Amino acid sequence: MIRMIMSGCNGRMGQAVVSQAQASGKFIVVAGYDSFAEKKNDFPVYSALDQITEEADVVIDFSNISATEALLEFCQSRKLPLVLATTGIAGELEQKVLRTAEMIPVFKSFNMSLGISLLQALVRQAAKVLGDTYDIEIIEKHHNQKLDAPSGTAIMIAQAAAASLNFEPEYVYDRTKAHQKRDHKEIGIHAVRGGTIVGEHEAMFIGPNEIVTIGHSAQSRELFANGALKAAEFIVANRKPMIYNMDDLVASLS
Ligand SMILES: NC(=O)c1ccc[n+]([C@@H]2O[C@H](COP(=O)([O-])OP(=O)(O)OC[C@H]3O[C@@H](n4cnc5c(N)ncnc54)[C@H](O)[C@@H]3O)[C@@H](O)[C@H]2O)c1
Repeated sequence: MIRMIMSGCNGRMGQAVVSQAQASGKFIVVAGYDSFAEKKNDFPVYSALDQITEEADVVIDFSNISATEALLEFCQSRKLPLVLATTGIAGELEQKVLRTAEMIPVFKSFNMSLGISLLQALVRQAAKVLGDTYDIEIIEKHHNQKLDAPSGTAIMIAQAAAASLNFEPEYVYDRTKAHQKRDHKEIGIHAVRGGTIVGEHEAMFIGPNEIVTIGHSAQSRELFANGALKAAEFIVANRKPMIYNMDDLVASLS
Protein backbone atom coordinates (compact mmCIF):
# COMPACT_ATOMS: atom_id res chain seq x y z
CA MET A 1 0.00 0.00 0.00
CA ILE A 2 1.19 3.51 -0.84
CA ARG A 3 0.89 5.81 2.17
CA MET A 4 -0.22 9.28 1.07
CA ILE A 5 -0.75 12.70 2.59
CA MET A 6 -3.55 14.65 0.91
CA SER A 7 -2.95 18.39 0.76
CA GLY A 8 -6.18 20.36 0.29
CA CYS A 9 -8.04 17.26 1.56
CA ASN A 10 -11.26 19.13 2.38
CA GLY A 11 -11.69 20.74 -1.04
CA ARG A 12 -13.61 19.43 -4.05
CA MET A 13 -10.56 17.79 -5.65
CA GLY A 14 -9.11 16.65 -2.30
CA GLN A 15 -12.31 14.76 -1.52
CA ALA A 16 -12.40 13.23 -5.03
CA VAL A 17 -8.79 12.00 -4.68
CA VAL A 18 -9.44 10.60 -1.18
CA SER A 19 -12.47 8.63 -2.34
CA GLN A 20 -10.67 7.27 -5.45
CA ALA A 21 -7.57 6.44 -3.37
CA GLN A 22 -9.61 4.54 -0.80
CA ALA A 23 -11.53 2.67 -3.52
CA SER A 24 -8.31 1.73 -5.39
CA GLY A 25 -7.02 -0.69 -2.77
CA LYS A 26 -3.52 0.61 -3.55
CA PHE A 27 -3.42 3.72 -1.35
CA ILE A 28 -3.93 4.51 2.29
CA VAL A 29 -4.46 8.16 3.25
CA VAL A 30 -2.42 8.59 6.44
CA ALA A 31 -3.05 12.32 6.95
CA GLY A 32 -4.68 15.36 5.43
CA TYR A 33 -3.49 18.96 5.30
CA ASP A 34 -5.98 21.78 4.92
CA SER A 35 -6.25 25.32 6.27
CA PHE A 36 -9.91 24.45 6.86
CA ALA A 37 -8.95 21.64 9.26
CA GLU A 38 -12.32 19.93 9.69
CA LYS A 39 -12.13 16.12 9.88
CA LYS A 40 -14.34 14.81 7.04
CA ASN A 41 -12.75 11.36 6.64
CA ASP A 42 -11.20 8.61 8.72
CA PHE A 43 -7.70 10.15 8.84
CA PRO A 44 -6.34 13.07 10.89
CA VAL A 45 -6.39 16.53 9.28
CA TYR A 46 -3.81 19.20 10.15
CA SER A 47 -3.80 22.93 9.43
CA ALA A 48 0.00 23.15 9.81
CA LEU A 49 2.46 20.88 8.05
CA ASP A 50 4.84 20.67 11.03
CA GLN A 51 2.06 18.95 13.00
CA ILE A 52 2.15 15.93 10.65
CA THR A 53 4.07 13.07 12.25
CA GLU A 54 2.64 10.19 10.18
CA GLU A 55 5.07 8.28 7.93
CA ALA A 56 4.20 8.58 4.23
CA ASP A 57 5.45 7.67 0.73
CA VAL A 58 3.99 10.57 -1.25
CA VAL A 59 2.09 13.87 -0.99
CA ILE A 60 -0.66 14.83 -3.44
CA ASP A 61 -1.57 18.52 -3.52
CA PHE A 62 -4.79 20.07 -4.82
CA SER A 63 -5.04 23.19 -2.66
CA ASN A 64 -3.93 26.73 -3.42
CA ILE A 65 -0.66 28.49 -4.35
CA SER A 66 -0.60 30.04 -0.86
CA ALA A 67 0.33 26.51 0.34
CA THR A 68 2.98 25.68 -2.28
CA GLU A 69 6.10 27.15 -0.69
CA ALA A 70 5.53 25.51 2.71
CA LEU A 71 4.66 22.25 0.98
CA LEU A 72 7.90 22.25 -1.02
CA GLU A 73 9.91 22.81 2.16
CA PHE A 74 7.99 20.08 4.01
CA CYS A 75 8.47 17.51 1.21
CA GLN A 76 12.15 18.40 0.82
CA SER A 77 12.83 18.09 4.56
CA ARG A 78 10.96 14.73 4.73
CA LYS A 79 12.38 13.50 1.35
CA LEU A 80 8.81 12.91 0.16
CA PRO A 81 7.88 12.78 -3.55
CA LEU A 82 5.27 15.43 -4.37
CA VAL A 83 2.44 15.46 -6.93
CA LEU A 84 1.67 19.13 -7.48
CA ALA A 85 -1.72 19.61 -9.13
CA THR A 86 -2.59 23.06 -7.77
CA THR A 87 -2.85 25.55 -10.64
CA GLY A 88 -1.55 29.11 -10.93
CA ILE A 89 2.09 28.36 -10.03
CA ALA A 90 4.29 30.81 -11.96
CA GLY A 91 7.28 33.16 -11.72
CA GLU A 92 9.51 32.85 -8.65
CA LEU A 93 7.28 30.11 -7.18
CA GLU A 94 7.76 28.01 -10.31
CA GLN A 95 11.54 28.52 -10.02
CA LYS A 96 11.31 27.28 -6.43
CA VAL A 97 9.44 24.18 -7.66
CA LEU A 98 12.24 23.51 -10.17
CA ARG A 99 14.95 23.99 -7.53
CA THR A 100 13.13 21.63 -5.15
CA ALA A 101 12.85 19.04 -7.94
CA GLU A 102 16.66 18.84 -7.93
CA MET A 103 16.34 17.36 -4.43
CA ILE A 104 13.11 15.31 -4.52
CA PRO A 105 10.85 13.93 -7.30
CA VAL A 106 8.13 16.47 -8.16
CA PHE A 107 5.36 15.63 -10.60
CA LYS A 108 3.70 18.84 -11.76
CA SER A 109 0.80 19.17 -14.14
CA PHE A 110 -1.95 21.78 -14.30
CA ASN A 111 -4.12 19.08 -15.86
CA MET A 112 -3.94 15.45 -14.76
CA SER A 113 -6.06 14.06 -17.62
CA LEU A 114 -4.53 11.81 -20.28
CA GLY A 115 -6.95 13.34 -22.84
CA ILE A 116 -5.47 16.81 -22.30
CA SER A 117 -2.02 15.35 -22.77
CA LEU A 118 -3.17 14.05 -26.18
CA LEU A 119 -4.81 17.41 -26.97
CA GLN A 120 -1.47 19.14 -26.37
CA ALA A 121 0.25 16.78 -28.82
CA LEU A 122 -2.44 17.52 -31.45
CA VAL A 123 -2.09 21.28 -30.84
CA ARG A 124 1.69 21.03 -31.33
CA GLN A 125 1.06 19.29 -34.67
CA ALA A 126 -1.65 21.75 -35.77
CA ALA A 127 0.56 24.74 -34.90
CA LYS A 128 3.36 23.26 -36.98
CA VAL A 129 1.10 22.86 -40.05
CA LEU A 130 -1.13 25.95 -39.70
CA GLY A 131 0.70 28.37 -37.38
CA ASP A 132 2.30 30.53 -40.07
CA THR A 133 -1.02 31.72 -41.47
CA TYR A 134 -3.84 30.77 -39.07
CA ASP A 135 -4.66 32.82 -35.95
CA ILE A 136 -4.74 30.87 -32.69
CA GLU A 137 -7.34 31.49 -29.98
CA ILE A 138 -7.90 29.38 -26.85
CA ILE A 139 -11.16 29.31 -24.90
CA GLU A 140 -11.49 27.68 -21.49
CA LYS A 141 -14.65 27.27 -19.39
CA HIS A 142 -14.87 26.42 -15.68
CA HIS A 143 -17.29 26.50 -12.71
CA ASN A 144 -17.99 29.74 -10.86
CA GLN A 145 -15.89 28.78 -7.80
CA LYS A 146 -12.56 28.68 -9.66
CA LEU A 147 -10.11 31.29 -8.35
CA ASP A 148 -7.47 31.60 -11.09
CA ALA A 149 -7.97 32.68 -14.69
CA PRO A 150 -7.07 31.73 -17.30
CA SER A 151 -6.76 28.08 -16.32
CA GLY A 152 -3.31 26.52 -16.02
CA THR A 153 -4.41 24.12 -18.77
CA ALA A 154 -5.13 27.00 -21.17
CA ILE A 155 -1.57 28.24 -20.57
CA MET A 156 -0.21 24.71 -21.15
CA ILE A 157 -2.11 24.56 -24.47
CA ALA A 158 -0.73 27.98 -25.50
CA GLN A 159 2.78 26.76 -24.63
CA ALA A 160 2.21 23.60 -26.71
CA ALA A 161 1.28 25.77 -29.71
CA ALA A 162 4.18 28.16 -29.06
CA ALA A 163 6.66 25.27 -29.10
CA SER A 164 5.83 24.63 -32.79
CA LEU A 165 5.63 28.24 -34.04
CA ASN A 166 8.38 29.99 -35.99
CA PHE A 167 7.93 33.11 -33.84
CA GLU A 168 7.59 34.05 -30.16
CA PRO A 169 3.83 34.55 -29.61
CA GLU A 170 2.35 37.16 -27.27
CA TYR A 171 -0.45 35.87 -25.02
CA VAL A 172 -3.40 38.32 -25.02
CA TYR A 173 -6.03 37.98 -22.28
CA ASP A 174 -7.93 41.24 -22.76
CA ARG A 175 -8.70 43.20 -25.90
CA THR A 176 -10.64 46.01 -24.25
CA LYS A 177 -7.65 48.36 -23.80
CA ALA A 178 -5.95 48.11 -27.21
CA HIS A 179 -7.96 49.66 -30.06
CA GLN A 180 -6.03 47.94 -32.80
CA LYS A 181 -6.24 44.98 -35.16
CA ARG A 182 -5.17 41.59 -33.98
CA ASP A 183 -1.49 40.86 -34.64
CA HIS A 184 -0.81 37.42 -36.13
CA LYS A 185 1.79 36.78 -33.42
CA GLU A 186 -0.87 36.92 -30.70
CA ILE A 187 -2.49 33.93 -29.05
CA GLY A 188 -5.81 35.03 -27.52
CA ILE A 189 -6.72 33.25 -24.27
CA HIS A 190 -10.26 33.61 -22.91
CA ALA A 191 -11.84 32.44 -19.64
CA VAL A 192 -15.55 31.71 -19.17
CA ARG A 193 -16.81 31.16 -15.59
CA GLY A 194 -20.20 29.85 -14.57
CA GLY A 195 -22.29 27.18 -12.87
CA THR A 196 -20.72 23.80 -12.34
CA ILE A 197 -18.62 23.31 -15.52
CA VAL A 198 -15.84 20.83 -14.60
CA GLY A 199 -13.46 22.05 -17.32
CA GLU A 200 -13.62 22.63 -21.08
CA HIS A 201 -10.80 23.67 -23.41
CA GLU A 202 -10.78 24.54 -27.08
CA ALA A 203 -7.83 25.52 -29.25
CA MET A 204 -9.01 27.24 -32.45
CA PHE A 205 -6.83 27.62 -35.53
CA ILE A 206 -8.65 30.28 -37.51
CA GLY A 207 -7.68 30.66 -41.15
CA PRO A 208 -9.10 32.06 -44.34
CA ASN A 209 -12.43 30.24 -44.88
CA GLU A 210 -11.99 27.54 -42.25
CA ILE A 211 -11.60 26.97 -38.51
CA VAL A 212 -9.89 23.90 -37.06
CA THR A 213 -10.99 23.31 -33.46
CA ILE A 214 -9.36 20.83 -31.10
CA GLY A 215 -11.33 20.39 -27.90
CA HIS A 216 -11.56 18.52 -24.62
CA SER A 217 -14.40 18.31 -22.14
CA ALA A 218 -13.86 16.98 -18.63
CA GLN A 219 -17.00 15.21 -17.43
CA SER A 220 -16.10 14.73 -13.76
CA ARG A 221 -13.41 15.44 -11.16
CA GLU A 222 -12.65 11.70 -10.91
CA LEU A 223 -10.73 12.10 -14.16
CA PHE A 224 -8.18 14.41 -12.49
CA ALA A 225 -8.21 12.40 -9.25
CA ASN A 226 -7.34 9.18 -11.11
CA GLY A 227 -4.60 10.94 -13.07
CA ALA A 228 -3.08 12.31 -9.85
CA LEU A 229 -3.10 8.82 -8.28
CA LYS A 230 -1.41 7.36 -11.39
CA ALA A 231 1.17 10.19 -11.14
CA ALA A 232 1.70 9.34 -7.46
CA GLU A 233 2.27 5.64 -8.25
CA PHE A 234 4.67 6.71 -11.00
CA ILE A 235 6.88 8.94 -8.83
CA VAL A 236 6.87 6.51 -5.92
CA ALA A 237 8.31 3.96 -8.37
CA ASN A 238 10.70 6.50 -10.01
CA ARG A 239 12.32 8.13 -7.02
CA LYS A 240 14.99 9.98 -9.00
CA PRO A 241 14.79 13.70 -8.06
CA MET A 242 13.58 15.67 -11.08
CA ILE A 243 10.53 17.41 -12.43
CA TYR A 244 8.06 15.01 -14.08
CA ASN A 245 4.94 15.77 -16.13
CA MET A 246 2.14 13.97 -18.00
CA ASP A 247 4.40 13.18 -20.97
CA ASP A 248 6.58 11.07 -18.64
CA LEU A 249 3.52 9.27 -17.28
CA VAL A 250 2.07 8.63 -20.75
CA ALA A 251 5.46 7.31 -21.94
CA SER A 252 5.58 4.93 -18.95
CA LEU A 253 2.07 3.59 -19.77
CA SER A 254 2.64 3.05 -23.50
N1 LIG B 1 -4.08 19.65 -12.15
C1 LIG B 1 -5.36 19.30 -12.32
O1 LIG B 1 -5.67 18.37 -13.08
C2 LIG B 1 -6.45 20.04 -11.59
C3 LIG B 1 -7.80 19.68 -11.75
C4 LIG B 1 -8.77 20.34 -11.00
C5 LIG B 1 -8.39 21.35 -10.12
N2 LIG B 1 -7.07 21.70 -10.01
C6 LIG B 1 -6.61 22.72 -9.07
O2 LIG B 1 -6.58 22.17 -7.77
C7 LIG B 1 -6.76 23.22 -6.82
C8 LIG B 1 -7.92 22.89 -5.89
O3 LIG B 1 -9.12 22.84 -6.62
P1 LIG B 1 -10.53 22.57 -5.87
O4 LIG B 1 -11.57 22.73 -6.91
O5 LIG B 1 -10.45 21.30 -5.08
O6 LIG B 1 -10.58 23.82 -4.88
P2 LIG B 1 -11.31 23.91 -3.47
O7 LIG B 1 -11.38 25.37 -3.16
O8 LIG B 1 -12.57 23.12 -3.47
O9 LIG B 1 -10.30 23.19 -2.45
C9 LIG B 1 -9.08 23.74 -2.04
C10 LIG B 1 -8.80 23.26 -0.64
O10 LIG B 1 -7.48 23.71 -0.28
C11 LIG B 1 -7.54 24.31 1.02
N3 LIG B 1 -6.51 25.35 1.10
C12 LIG B 1 -6.52 26.57 0.50
N4 LIG B 1 -5.40 27.24 0.81
C13 LIG B 1 -4.66 26.41 1.62
C14 LIG B 1 -3.39 26.55 2.27
N5 LIG B 1 -2.66 27.66 2.15
N6 LIG B 1 -2.97 25.50 3.00
C15 LIG B 1 -3.70 24.37 3.12
N7 LIG B 1 -4.91 24.20 2.54
C16 LIG B 1 -5.36 25.21 1.79
C17 LIG B 1 -8.95 24.88 1.15
O11 LIG B 1 -9.34 24.99 2.53
C18 LIG B 1 -9.79 23.84 0.40
O12 LIG B 1 -10.26 22.81 1.26
C19 LIG B 1 -6.98 24.50 -7.64
O13 LIG B 1 -5.74 25.16 -7.81
C20 LIG B 1 -7.48 23.95 -8.97
O14 LIG B 1 -7.30 24.85 -10.04
C21 LIG B 1 -6.10 21.05 -10.71
